[in-house]
Amino acid sequence: MEDLHFLHILIQFVVFLFVLPCIFSCPDQQKQALLLFKDSLLSTTISPNSSIPLFSSLDSWNSTTDCCHWERVVCSSPDSRSRMVQGLNLYSLAWRITDDPLPLDGKALMPLFTIRSLMLLDLSSNYFEGQISGPGFGNLSKMVNLNLMSNKFSGSIPPQMYRLRYLQYLDMSSNLLDGALTSDVRFLRNLRVLKLDSNSLTGKFPEEIGDLKMLQKLFIRDNSFVGEIPLTIVNLKSLETLDMRDNKFTMGIPSDIGSLYNLTYLALSNNKLNGTIPTSLQHMEKLKQLELENNLLEGLVPIWLFNMKGLVDVLIGGNLMTWNNSIKSVKPKQMLSRLSLKSCGLIGEIPGWISSQKGLNFLDLRKNKLEGTFPLWLAEMALGSIILSDNKLSGSLPPRLFESLSLSVLDLSRNNFSGELPENIGNANAIMLLMLSGNNFSGEVPKSISNIHRLLLLDLSRNRLSGDTFPVFDPDAFLGYIDLSSNDFTGEIPTIFPQETRLLSLSNNRFSGSLPKNLTNWTLLEHLDLHNNNISGELPDFLSELPTLQILSLRNNSLKGPIPKSISKISNLHILDLSSNELVGEIPTEIGKLKGMIDTPSTYSSLSDTFFNIDIGFSDLIVNWKKTLLGLPTSPSLDIYSLLDLSGNHLSGEIPNSIGNLKGLKLLNLAYNNLSGNIPSSLGKLEKVETLDLSHNELSGSIPESLVNLHELTVLDVSNNKLTGRIPVGGQMTIMNNPSYYANNSGLCGIQIRQPCPEDQQPTEPAEPAEEEEKQQVFSWIGAGIGFPIGFVFAVLIIYMSGYFSPLVPHRCIVLKPRRRRP
Ligand SMILES: *[C@@H]1O[C@H](CO)[C@@H](O)[C@H](O)[C@H]1NC(C)=O
Ligand SMILES: *[C@@H]1O[C@H](CO)[C@@H](O)[C@H](O)[C@H]1NC(C)=O
Ligand SMILES: *[C@@H]1O[C@H](CO)[C@@H](O)[C@H](O)[C@H]1NC(C)=O
Ligand SMILES: *[C@@H]1O[C@H](CO)[C@@H](O)[C@H](O)[C@H]1NC(C)=O
Ligand SMILES: *[C@@H]1O[C@H](CO)[C@@H](O)[C@H](O)[C@H]1NC(C)=O
Ligand SMILES: *[C@@H]1O[C@H](CO)[C@@H](O)[C@H](O)[C@H]1NC(C)=O
Ligand SMILES: *[C@@H]1O[C@H](CO)[C@@H](O)[C@H](O)[C@H]1NC(C)=O
Repeated sequence: MEDLHFLHILIQFVVFLFVLPCIFSCPDQQKQALLLFKDSLLSTTISPNSSIPLFSSLDSWNSTTDCCHWERVVCSSPDSRSRMVQGLNLYSLAWRITDDPLPLDGKALMPLFTIRSLMLLDLSSNYFEGQISGPGFGNLSKMVNLNLMSNKFSGSIPPQMYRLRYLQYLDMSSNLLDGALTSDVRFLRNLRVLKLDSNSLTGKFPEEIGDLKMLQKLFIRDNSFVGEIPLTIVNLKSLETLDMRDNKFTMGIPSDIGSLYNLTYLALSNNKLNGTIPTSLQHMEKLKQLELENNLLEGLVPIWLFNMKGLVDVLIGGNLMTWNNSIKSVKPKQMLSRLSLKSCGLIGEIPGWISSQKGLNFLDLRKNKLEGTFPLWLAEMALGSIILSDNKLSGSLPPRLFESLSLSVLDLSRNNFSGELPENIGNANAIMLLMLSGNNFSGEVPKSISNIHRLLLLDLSRNRLSGDTFPVFDPDAFLGYIDLSSNDFTGEIPTIFPQETRLLSLSNNRFSGSLPKNLTNWTLLEHLDLHNNNISGELPDFLSELPTLQILSLRNNSLKGPIPKSISKISNLHILDLSSNELVGEIPTEIGKLKGMIDTPSTYSSLSDTFFNIDIGFSDLIVNWKKTLLGLPTSPSLDIYSLLDLSGNHLSGEIPNSIGNLKGLKLLNLAYNNLSGNIPSSLGKLEKVETLDLSHNELSGSIPESLVNLHELTVLDVSNNKLTGRIPVGGQMTIMNNPSYYANNSGLCGIQIRQPCPEDQQPTEPAEPAEEEEKQQVFSWIGAGIGFPIGFVFAVLIIYMSGYFSPLVPHRCIVLKPRRRRP
């Protein structure tokens, strides 16, 4: 990319030199088209703040001057008979102050499609929206170099694009394109570079790709292509780069792939390729980088890979391949730079031959069965990334490891390492990811750790670390993700972490004292997990000063006092767990204003599950989900959950009606409190709720009929209250038939608990109409519940087959599996 821009600038400069004795100026028609383009950009773009100079780089586009002198415009040389606009470098047009991209309307491009002399058009990084105009681009038949990267173009690739037969360079990566790449791709005979990365393209990859004999670089990473890699790919003899990572390719790697003699980079990681690594590969003398990770490749890891004299990156882990453990020594012909043998069944000590690889920068041996200690030779090699997680390594860490100034990723999670963390840990000040979770480290966190100013993520969870003072981080440091859970830390909640703190888990320790005001220094805080500690005091009003907070767990502490009304101001909060504390008072009505629980949970993921291709294994968020404590994985995202758990407190008064506004909730747990009054019928509006637990309160009245609208309900517990009357029938309510979830009330009845209601036991004559009524109720519900057949089928089963309330029906007939859905 940069190279290309540099080239453009160079071309512009050269052209500029020639232009000095300018005789011909640009054709008026083209000038008008460009001015029209500028106008339509301005008129179709609604600036959120009109004072921002949106397109300042187009200031030189002025009707009184020669358009060949304008910025970003390249004309043909003046010695040709007439000058024409040949190139437009229109990348990053809008001036943007926020990360939030200001979309530009793709229609603004219309005037450009009349400039038929265009050979180069760079529209990258503009967030143009809409479909790619087929007729428009089809007009630009002289196009050689077209760059549409990083826009928001959607829809499929229009057929006219394939007719741009002079195209040599086509970049449409990072858009929202879908649909298939068609066989018409064969018309792009002159194509040298094709980049389609990061779209949603699907279908089989056309075998006509083999006709593009000039193709040198093919990038289709991060799409959804399926089927096999076309065998014709081996016809692309000029190919130097082939990147097909992150697709859904199946079947084997073409066995002839080794005939691509000019290939230097072959990346097929993260597909579903099976079979073995083709032996023809060893003939690829120019191959430098081989990335085949995370497929279904099998067989023994071929040792000949290490005899290939150009190969420096061997990333083949995460397959079904195994390492021949009888091979004790490998002597690579070339100094390796990156090596991944993750989950290759390596046993014994970390292979000693790796020590000969003086140029090694990246080593990934995770998920093997390695034993023994951390070798000193490995500590002495200046690696950038060391990933040894999920092995059985033991002993203490050699302090020498932290004298490295190149180490940026260290992942030793889930081994048996022990001892104290070396005091000099902070000398390795290039570390960005430090993950030591799930070992047996003890002692205090070394003070020096706060010297690692590039640290982004620190995971020391599940060890035996202790102490009540922590190293103080520079408030401006980068550290954003901190997991110190499941250790033996004591003292007050530390607020010594930088302002960048987004995720902080201190759960399962022995922290005490009240919630510190300094929490509000973390203006980016999204996830705060303090469960299973001994935090006391009241829930402070200043929590409302954390508007970015999405997840707050204070489960199982000693918090007292009421739930503050101001809690509703934490507008992004979608998981709130205050259970097992000593909270008193009423549930504030304002809770119904929690915007994060009103909105439907999104599938947008804020925390990526991989940083630099490293799995992030933060401790799960423990919640009471469907009556059992369960860990929700923190990565890739907890955004899809929306939970409110206030159980196990001393809350009193009525359940506020407003709770029914929290339409995004998947779980509402108010059990084990002193709540009284009726169950508000507004709970029937919680259309996403799967678990509703109101047990162990003082609730009276009947169960509201509206609960039949809860189409996702799988657990309803109202036991141990003072409820009376008929349990509503219909929808999921019909299969809410666990008798213990209705036990210990003051007179509930209904088919679910095979307890006839008084009115059902009246003398025989009215029996039929009653049944009829019941049927109607069920059927009137059908229309609304098409997606939820189990409740319906079940209702019909009960009414037609079991004979309503017949004591003879064996219980197993009505045990139907509740719908299981991923939350
Ligand atoms: C165009 O350029 C001329 C001379 O540089 C200047 O006087 C004029 O104001 C400019 N017009 C606009 C619309 O910017
Ligand atoms: C193609 O170019 C001609 C002028 O050369 C123009 O009249 C026509 O509108 C263009 N087509 C599109 C779709 O822009
Ligand atoms: C392979 O690369 C060499 C050197 O870069 C080049 O001369 C040759 O033409 C290429 N072969 C093909 C088939 O493109
Ligand atoms: C952790 O280390 C201690 C000694 O420091 C040892 O007693 C204990 O067994 C170890 N735990 C595990 C799980 O290895
Ligand atoms: C709270 O933060 C301020 C800076 O905002 C700092 O000066 C003070 O020392 C902190 N207090 C504690 C107890 O950490
Ligand atoms: C509650 O937290 C304490 C530590 O404060 C812990 O010992 C106990 O097991 C926790 N209870 C549950 C149910 O997790
Ligand atoms: C009902 O109450 C009794 C007595 O308090 C208790 O033993 C029993 O476990 C309760 N049943 C259920 C299902 O909660």
